[in-house]
Amino acid sequence: MAEQRSVLKEYDRYISALFAAEDNALHSAREEMLREDMPEISVSASEGKLLQVLARIIGARRILEIGTLGGYSTIWLARALPPEGKLISLEIDARYAEVARRNLKRAGLEEKVEVRVGPALESLSRLKVTAEGAFDLVFIDADKEAYVNYLRQAMPLVREGGLVLGDNTLPDAVLDPAAESGTKRYNAAVSAHPDLDSILVPVLRGKGIDGLLISVKQSSALKT
Ligand SMILES: C[S@@+](CC[C@H](N)C(=O)[O-])C[C@H]1O[C@@H](n2cnc3c(N)ncnc32)[C@H](O)[C@@H]1O
Repeated sequence: MAEQRSVLKEYDRYISALFAAEDNALHSAREEMLREDMPEISVSASEGKLLQVLARIIGARRILEIGTLGGYSTIWLARALPPEGKLISLEIDARYAEVARRNLKRAGLEEKVEVRVGPALESLSRLKVTAEGAFDLVFIDADKEAYVNYLRQAMPLVREGGLVLGDNTLPDAVLDPAAESGTKRYNAAVSAHPDLDSILVPVLRGKGIDGLLISVKQSSALKT
């Protein structure tokens, strides 16, 4: 197991060095989170780059993130946006949100990103599809027990052909098949959802392997 973990670490290092090298802003964001004694639960650089590439593929102009922490994944995602693009990130902890705002400012993204403080379910209930349109991409990465509720509330906010991404969806689901968990319930809900076409993709982390559940919204009426 330990040997396998070190191989995965090497894979992650190889991929990150070639395709997801951190610049100063990303590196400083991690340092700042450590200085502020925040948990080390951000996405890895390689997963951050995956999020960014997915946002670019669909030409995302409006992104919604649920779970900001220090804004590390936010930076990767916001960098996929065009100049007039907008990202809204929801965070329950006001101190974390402040750290994220500082990190986003250092990355030159303060105009594009708005961090909203409060329980995400409440913030979501206040979000509407605006004149600029629905969200192109929603990244769910907050408290796992609420993932199914986040999905329910986020679906009407996502455009047809948009993406819903659920983080940390693999180990819980597999390692203890008997245990109940929020991410397992999320995986089951997504798998059964008539308007989502999905695949759970393993992603590498410094600490091993996790999963990103990637779903495309496609109304069942439009499916062939
Ligand atoms: C895994 S971290 C997010 C990591 C971040 N997306 C990244 O990769 O850089 C989860 C975050 O969700 C926040 N969170 C937990 N429960 C929440 C809730 N009910 N509403 C909003 N945010 C919540 C936590 O405070 C934490 O900052």
